Amino acid sequence: MDKLIIKGGNRLNGNIRISGAKNSALKLMAAALLTDEPVELRNMPNLADSRFMARLLSTLGVELYWPQNDSVCRLNAVDITSTIAPYDQVRKMRATFNVLGPLLARVGHATVSLPGGCAIGARPVNFHLDAFQAMGADIVIEQGYVKAAALRGLKGAVIDLPFPSVGATEHTMMAATLAKGTTHINNAAQEPEIVDIANMLKGMGAKIEGAGTSSIIIEGVEKLNGISYSVMPDRIEAGTYAMAVAATGGDVLLEGAPANEMTSLIDHLNRAGVSVTVEDEGVRIQRNGARLKPVDVDVQPHPGFATDLQAQFMALMTIADGTSTITENIFENRYLHAPELNRFGADIRVQGKVATVHGVDHLVGAPVMATDLRASVSLVIAGLVADGETEVRRIYHLDRGFENLEQKLNACGAQIQRTAEVSA
Ligand code: UD1
Repeated sequence: MDKLIIKGGNRLNGNIRISGAKNSALKLMAAALLTDEPVELRNMPNLADSRFMARLLSTLGVELYWPQNDSVCRLNAVDITSTIAPYDQVRKMRATFNVLGPLLARVGHATVSLPGGCAIGARPVNFHLDAFQAMGADIVIEQGYVKAAALRGLKGAVIDLPFPSVGATEHTMMAATLAKGTTHINNAAQEPEIVDIANMLKGMGAKIEGAGTSSIIIEGVEKLNGISYSVMPDRIEAGTYAMAVAATGGDVLLEGAPANEMTSLIDHLNRAGVSVTVEDEGVRIQRNGARLKPVDVDVQPHPGFATDLQAQFMALMTIADGTSTITENIFENRYLHAPELNRFGADIRVQGKVATVHGVDHLVGAPVMATDLRASVSLVIAGLVADGETEVRRIYHLDRGFENLEQKLNACGAQIQRTAEVSA
């Protein structure tokens, strides 16, 4: 297992190229199951999670051509040879659960392991299953597996989501493209990744209206065709590096960062005293001199402040000149990074869904443990500003979602080294 050693205190200056969006890419890969024609995905992020999804798709019979470190992934689901997604391939990464809907829509049945909880919360899938049931699928849960069948095909239905769930919106939208009749998703999630998936599906011949609003209408079609499609840039990766620069100070151009999808974060950064400029090539982040101002954050579904940026913003607020509060409204247990940040000398107190962050003058490097994907990168941000040396352990979490993190940051002046973690 690897760990990162960070020598803190350097400002960041230069350019960082933003990769394709993980949260979108994984679902676009699953969408390849909806057609028997070739699908080419460009701007694919090379991540542990995307490689993991590729392995599951291979298990299902999808032909895949994706050389290591290549940003083009070719998939061909001409023959689906298995409709079983086994426990070991679903428990490690929740997005793999999203093969259920495409399999059900294309083949009429699927057996997919329940994903189980994860460090940040229970993360149930009842909205997904209720939607497929409303579309005519028979669903039983047996021995930890969802067994779903719609042998005469899925039917269009009206789906009223109890909460604008990103996963359930994407999953239902994908399955509805091949259903008979029209599906309405009400109270749909409005995240940019949903628009990205809808754009790819529309390019494949699907009829979808309203993606990006709270009401999506999908008219089912007989068949979808192949496509060559470029994955949208990763607004979470861009936001993470924006906060790294805001924390250390410096001047970095985030090349290809999708400014329009980052408005809530940009607003919060401006209020903290960080200069954010939208340029033709991307988004420039600058901070020189003055201390950060404290800013409160209320985490909400898009277009509100993203839960995937909450941990990084908390790291930033640890060195602000005053007290800020963070309210996490999406997941019940997404503050595992708070005690780790306190190991750097931060002063964070968590009570229920509210974290109060009392800014301190400076952080001091410490050995810390990554607990989940976004939490782990908040520890990297703290390590970059802290005096002295920081050791971040369990960085497999980081490798799930950040492509070439050390290379990108080191090119801007950071000092991060990856070494093997030797257990005692
Ligand atoms: C969520 C985030 C998404 C983020 C991802 C990974 C939101 C709205 N969603 O997406 O931005 O990229 O985590 O960190 O910010 N729920 C149920 N039953 C279900 C589905 C969801 O009760 O069937 C609940 C969840 O427990 C959670 C909320 O609804 O409290 C939102 O979940 P959802 O958006 O589905 O989660 P993800 O798709 O994982």
